[in-house]
Amino acid sequence: MSKIGRNDPCWCGSGVKYKKCHLDFDRQISRYRDMGAEVPTRGMIKTPAQIAGIRESAKINIAVLDYVAAHIQAGVTTEEIDQWVYQETVKRGGLPAPLHYEGYPKSVCTSIDNVVCHGIPSPDRVLKEGDIVNVDCSTQLNGYFSDSSRMFCIGEVSPEKKRLVEITKQSLSVGLEKVRPWGFLGDMGSAINEFAQANGYSVVRDIGGHGIGLAFHEDPWVSYVASPGTEMLMAPGLCFTIEPMINMGTYEIEEDEEDGWTIYTADGQPSAQWEIQVVVTEDGYEILSY
Ligand code: MF3
Ligand code: CO
Repeated sequence: MSKIGRNDPCWCGSGVKYKKCHLDFDRQISRYRDMGAEVPTRGMIKTPAQIAGIRESAKINIAVLDYVAAHIQAGVTTEEIDQWVYQETVKRGGLPAPLHYEGYPKSVCTSIDNVVCHGIPSPDRVLKEGDIVNVDCSTQLNGYFSDSSRMFCIGEVSPEKKRLVEITKQSLSVGLEKVRPWGFLGDMGSAINEFAQANGYSVVRDIGGHGIGLAFHEDPWVSYVASPGTEMLMAPGLCFTIEPMINMGTYEIEEDEEDGWTIYTADGQPSAQWEIQVVVTEDGYEILSY
């Protein structure tokens, strides 16, 4: 940490004197660090101006998913969903963050049934009655990133799959109850894990959520199986995703060796995921994207 005078401008770029801005915040961070807690770096703490930029990006992200929600149905290919996402994002001035990200070939991920995440849209995959599909949408606008995903049930879906989708959605609310300033990410992760297990499901351990804002994926990595009081301190301004992948059977997963992206459940049973993006505030949280 650089030395900064009480009357100097704050490091966050607000233009306000340090003593009136992040001085108390830094003291609080130091206190937790001295106690051995994992604390965020300054770069992970978003300023009000940055949060405003992320919010604008997220408005597009939400609108694109609303568009998908209004049009998705049996007979549509996942390739068509990809085209919708590209067109609806660009039309609003944004760019789909997944496109060409680390070589990813499409604008969105579409993950059906036993696909846990990172399913690649294809003209050969036609949605059919009974499918459960996750559409994971991420947007960049003016250098600000947003990321959220929703599940869709295509036509009549088996009661077992419908319940998996519903419980996974509810797990977000269960996790959100633990998001508060000066709590820990592990409080949230453990609440989600306990809820999923109590309902007879398992939570994927090897893939988690992430910090986000000025890049698509930032630190911290976010686990949904962690223990209370562990993982990173939730300081105001920390912006991250809550995106548990919940499996009907084992939490074990396998990567597609051919495409290098698609993640399957190891036992072939269904998996569901919902994703929201939140920022920790002075008195709780704000949901930026959903
Ligand atoms: N949207 C996914 C997430 O929640 C990331 C997808 S990376 C991609 O983190 F390249 F596959 F798009
Ligand atoms: Co994400």
